[in-house]
Amino acid sequence: MGRYAAMLAALALVVMTAPLLSTPARAESGYDLWLRYQPVEESYGAANHVTALVTGYRSPTLDAAAWELRRGLTGLLGRAPAQSSAVTADDVLVIGTPKSSAVIAALNLPLTALGDEGYLIRGVTISGHRAMVIAANSDIGVLYGAFALLRQIQMAKPLAGLDIASTPKTKLRVLNHWDNLNGTVERGYAGASIWDWPALPEHVSRRIIDYARANASIGINGTVVNNVNADAAFLGAEYIEKEAALADALRPFGIRLYLSVRWSAPMELGGLKSADPLDPAVKAWWQAKADEIYRAIPDFGGFLVKANSEGQPGPQDYHRTHADGANMIADVLKPHHGVVMWRAFVYANDPRIDRATTAYNEFVPLDGKFRDNVVLQVKNGPLDFQPREPFSPLFGAMPHTSLMMEFQITKEYLGQQTHLAYLGTLYEEALESDTYEHGPGSTVARVIDGSLDHHPISGIAGVANIGNDADWCGSIFNQANWYVFGRMAWDPEISARAVADEWVRQTFNNDPAFVTPVVDMMMKSRQAVVDYMTPLGLALIMAHGHHMGPGPWDTIGPREDWKAPYYHRADAKGIGFDRVASGYVAQYHSPLKEEYAKVSTTPEDLLLWFHHVSWDHRMKSGRTLWQELVARYQKGVDDVAAMQATWAKLADDVDPERYAQVRDFLAVQHREAIWWRDACLAYFEQFSKRPFPDGYKPKYPLGYYEKMPFGASPKP
Ligand code: GCU
Repeated sequence: MGRYAAMLAALALVVMTAPLLSTPARAESGYDLWLRYQPVEESYGAANHVTALVTGYRSPTLDAAAWELRRGLTGLLGRAPAQSSAVTADDVLVIGTPKSSAVIAALNLPLTALGDEGYLIRGVTISGHRAMVIAANSDIGVLYGAFALLRQIQMAKPLAGLDIASTPKTKLRVLNHWDNLNGTVERGYAGASIWDWPALPEHVSRRIIDYARANASIGINGTVVNNVNADAAFLGAEYIEKEAALADALRPFGIRLYLSVRWSAPMELGGLKSADPLDPAVKAWWQAKADEIYRAIPDFGGFLVKANSEGQPGPQDYHRTHADGANMIADVLKPHHGVVMWRAFVYANDPRIDRATTAYNEFVPLDGKFRDNVVLQVKNGPLDFQPREPFSPLFGAMPHTSLMMEFQITKEYLGQQTHLAYLGTLYEEALESDTYEHGPGSTVARVIDGSLDHHPISGIAGVANIGNDADWCGSIFNQANWYVFGRMAWDPEISARAVADEWVRQTFNNDPAFVTPVVDMMMKSRQAVVDYMTPLGLALIMAHGHHMGPGPWDTIGPREDWKAPYYHRADAKGIGFDRVASGYVAQYHSPLKEEYAKVSTTPEDLLLWFHHVSWDHRMKSGRTLWQELVARYQKGVDDVAAMQATWAKLADDVDPERYAQVRDFLAVQHREAIWWRDACLAYFEQFSKRPFPDGYKPKYPLGYYEKMPFGASPKP
């Protein structure tokens, strides 16, 4: 027997004997995400019944809804619903639009306000029979409603009396995949790219369909399939054919395909001498390219552009503005109803200028100069997806321009694959921030849902954490970040806690003794990361390049603003970045700019972001800043230990495979939290020259932390 044959035989034996071993629950890889459809536990479940599914005319989207309901209801309620075209019994479920279903049409339901993506779920009586309807104006609304109903049942909510009308508050709810042509994923921690380009266009894998289902279940309606650091080849004829096959597979699930484009593509693919947006030949090239794409993908969404940012080419190479560039592309997409998502992530290579001020300085003068199918995509904070940043002052400063939010779902700066950090609280903090653009209540949520300044385009983008790993996201708890991103894109005002509760119930179970501690743990998790990595408003002190682990000493970057000391500015006097002097604070509206201008009125969580503060400054706790810094790092470590203790008590409530992954990753997180604490404090102590509080001292000398090879951390 060859080596592989022997391995397979051994595996088969394990598979055959596994059911004989007594395990508390079947092992789960996490592949099913939150769409597990396990039987609802009797004790928590309502006595729900669905006897038959009543459908009307078919379409690929309505078929997807019916398929999902059959699969979901069979799993959850333990019995497959019959298929019917008329209501002849109690407890039937009728789905459709007034066009697809005569039964729905006859009910005269209040559907107008639902728009073209919303849904209504309601109990009704039809021909004397008790029935439930999922109705919408469009097929995709029905699919969203199907997932919403299944969510209710998975959460053990009673169907009786259900009456839900829901419409998304934003138009563009898109994932940004930073996936490269060669199958790698920039800042991806969940394996290779899910797009199997070599196998396309002939073959679309089952994983792509499951990806589409998962996205539809949370209302995501667009996907940018390639990295913002884009390869022009994605616009070549060979790739357009592949992208068209992918778009065909995603279409029934309401997901439009978008591409990131490389600004210099007309030169690289078209052989032109320039990519000047005002050159008619350049515009003609883009026009022909857009026409070619739309012939293959009639509902193509549009382009995402990273221009003149981190070395990428852009219109400024020709002394044109971002508006010149965005508008040229917008004009070629306009006849096809496509949009341009133009990124505002730009910063100058000038150490005298505070990097946090640069996007505002470049874009605010262009307010009102963009076409109506351009939307600026702005990262939540002005730097770069840090564990905590204040909201970007661009929100609230461009009333005449559509702005969409860019969140990062993949945790580049928050522990990557292993650390448990629920990002719902980070997203919520950004979205509920008040910009005061038109006085109190001008929240970031209202800027990006378009309601504050009445913009027709609105949206949220999330840099995906999805890869080919068995559990999609690199860890079970990372799945929650994909989930909450979609739910908050649908409704930017939904609460992080409510979404965590939904996710836990669907991903694990409905036992309150499990749900409550796990939700509590998730809600505290992001603050724990802030505390052991970048407390009190510190930022960008991660190791250079890969951003994994501490690197407050790092000065190896090629430019000043890629070096850690540029950000923390620790010296003998104190620590932190004086952003009053840099002009950053003035970019906010009153009363924020007055509040942030003074140490005494700046929230302590952002203190060192806004001010350079003396080591002996007295904090609200009564400690000095130095003592507080030590206390915060310690608290972060303690909070991870508390998460470990919480999880350890829950072993009997989770299948062994997922239980063990979370347990092991929490152990990694604890080891690395200690590393962060000790390395940072050993480093900052050379400036503070203050004694460590009693009972605390880094275990190793600073040089040891500085030399740690990638992927390793000191033994605690
Ligand atoms: C971060 C990230 C890069 C990415 C960039 C961007 O700096 O580290 O990998 O390209 O953001 O958002 O464009």
